[in-house]
Amino acid sequence: MGRRPSDPFARKPIETLLKEMEGGERLHRVLGPVALTALGVGATIGAGIFVLTGQAARNDAGPSLVLSFLLAGIGCGFAALCYSELASMVPVAGSAYTYAYATLGELVAWVIGWDLVLEYAIGSSAVAVGWSKYLDALFRNQFHRAIDPRWLNSPWDFDVESHRFVWNKVAVRLADGSLGHVQAYANIPALLIMLAITVILVVGVRESATFNAWMVLLNLSVILLVIGLGTTYVEPKNWTPFLHKDHGWKGIPLGAAHIFFAYIGFDSISTHAEEARNPRRDLAIGILGSLLICTVLYIAVAGILTGMVPYGEIDPDAPIASAFQRHGTTWASGLITVAILAGITSSLLVGTLSQPRVLLAMARDGMLPQGFFAAIHPRFLTPWKSTILIGLTVGLISATVPLTFLADLVSVGTLFAFLVVCAAVWILRYRSPEIPRPFRVPALPVVAALGILVNGGLMFSLGPDNWIRLVAWLGLGLLIYFGYSRYHTTLKPDGPAEL
Ligand code: ALA
Repeated sequence: MGRRPSDPFARKPIETLLKEMEGGERLHRVLGPVALTALGVGATIGAGIFVLTGQAARNDAGPSLVLSFLLAGIGCGFAALCYSELASMVPVAGSAYTYAYATLGELVAWVIGWDLVLEYAIGSSAVAVGWSKYLDALFRNQFHRAIDPRWLNSPWDFDVESHRFVWNKVAVRLADGSLGHVQAYANIPALLIMLAITVILVVGVRESATFNAWMVLLNLSVILLVIGLGTTYVEPKNWTPFLHKDHGWKGIPLGAAHIFFAYIGFDSISTHAEEARNPRRDLAIGILGSLLICTVLYIAVAGILTGMVPYGEIDPDAPIASAFQRHGTTWASGLITVAILAGITSSLLVGTLSQPRVLLAMARDGMLPQGFFAAIHPRFLTPWKSTILIGLTVGLISATVPLTFLADLVSVGTLFAFLVVCAAVWILRYRSPEIPRPFRVPALPVVAALGILVNGGLMFSLGPDNWIRLVAWLGLGLLIYFGYSRYHTTLKPDGPAEL
């Protein structure tokens, strides 16, 4: 006998969600407000600020990149306020997926859950690629040995001008000493770092949170060093002209869309509700606190970088290390590169930590096979099976797909999730005003509407290639929903499913 499909518009009552938190296999409640903020900062600061800043300054915004960071930060700020209200109302694991299930129904929840896979898993792939670029910078600048570019790059690339996929040829020194262009194979350092991260994550969240806290401290120190030391090398003439010569004012939203990736991560704190000691209060502190810290630091770094190097000459792969190298401070460049590698590692760690938790929430609802995605390791108490699956998948993607392709795809997906969160908080105020909200978004309709407008505008700036990819990704998700999840969800309008 077949199973009955569920109602795609059925909503999961918040009371049920809260009740579910009390039984079954649960994660440990070990995270306080400082640990949560540190997780947010750790997840957010990574490849975006250290790698994409260079490309966005060069190609999109020039010195006006500081305004791009401000604009993207404002868009995130609206979404962060909405996330905080939902996280305080529905303090269970699963992030935007769970909020959507409680407010907009099963189908939208599935779409968002699937979209979050894009944000966290594909996002981690992009971060791993960024990590490999700084590893190469370390080898080049400190040991005067470059990693063979064939083993540091994806075999193909996407040409934005012609909208075509092309084979990726990299410059290498040939046997006769001349410079030639040869086919790239795969990014092996990116694959290896992902395998190492996977092992750490399977061992446990407490260990990972402590590891993360150290990484974040190191990370903040390096950013402060970049700002402090970088200031002494700033030449104000590099800030004029302020706007990019080709794009003018339009370069600001264009740059904001391309560096939006740098802000992704603060929202991942909401996936840790189940491990938070006081989720109703501390999630909001963590989300808003980490976003604020990152916004201030990002604007400062963008200002310093574009002040240190004329924007047309910024290195697109490892811009910060190269800027210091250019000014002859090899020691600072080395120190900063090592610390940046640590910072990117922590971003990778938290991104990969969040993904299994979203899948765990989806599996508990029957949207995905429970035996696999909801399995908690008896000793380590981590969702180990899905962590290993994700680690391997992310590793393979990072070895074979180029950074900007991944980063733009992740940004468009995350902007979409932010839109839904802004809409959800608005709808829920009218639909369920009685549910307690320890944190309330101030001036609600205005903040939610501005969140939809700014984040929607940034999606628009990313261009049709990325919308098509987002639609294709969501289309694949719908196939899974209508082919599997609908028949297995635990939320049935009229009693348990027949077997
Ligand atoms: N925001 C994260 C980074 O930039 C994803 O690496």
